[in-house]
Amino acid sequence: MASILAEQKKDDRKELLAEIRAGLGNRSIVLIGLMGAGKTALGRRLAARLDLPFVDADSEIEDAAGATISEIFTEHGERYFRQGERKVIARLLQEAPQVLSTGGGAYMDEETRANIKARGVSVWLKADLRVLMKRVGRRDHRPLLAGVDPGAVMRKLIEARYPVYAEADITVESRDVPHELIVDAVIDALGAKLGCKAKPAAQKAAKPGRRKKGR
Ligand code: S3P
Repeated sequence: MASILAEQKKDDRKELLAEIRAGLGNRSIVLIGLMGAGKTALGRRLAARLDLPFVDADSEIEDAAGATISEIFTEHGERYFRQGERKVIARLLQEAPQVLSTGGGAYMDEETRANIKARGVSVWLKADLRVLMKRVGRRDHRPLLAGVDPGAVMRKLIEARYPVYAEADITVESRDVPHELIVDAVIDALGAKLGCKAKPAAQKAAKPGRRKKGR
């Protein structure tokens, strides 16, 4: 039953999804936000819903370097990583449309920010410290959080980065709820931003249904 309802809901949104794809034209949806904001997990789902390719910039950097992000940081330093990140994202932005998830520091680079503005619709997945800590706490592959107090680092990053992330075209709260709900919110926000005419989920759900007699 639950899966039938989910399928119906997907069908309801087909029109909106098609309008979003058309509205994007030759641009990518670019996900930005801090580590733990859910860029990869939500990006994969968003891409599947929109029937677009999903590309993860960090994985592409790792492929290009033949090394993990941690290895790049340890062997060559953060500056070197940032140069590679800038180059790889510039290359990836040539491919569109797609859903492109970027590492937390990428949008802080002026050149990358300008490239994203020119070739993408940016979506900031904004999460509060509690949600971020719950998510980054589960994994230890992030060099910026290795061997330090992750809470203190994340607080500093929020302070430094959130004013810049706020330049994104769209901001969606990445809350501690099932991923599909956040993806729905992103789809609605994209629809509004791109001037789509199809109704967002909330309005469809609000339509009065058929009522049984006597109730
Ligand atoms: C970084 C975030 C990481 C990765 C690198 C640096 C950052 O990506 O690019 O460790 O500066 O915030 P995620 O945001 O996908 O974890």
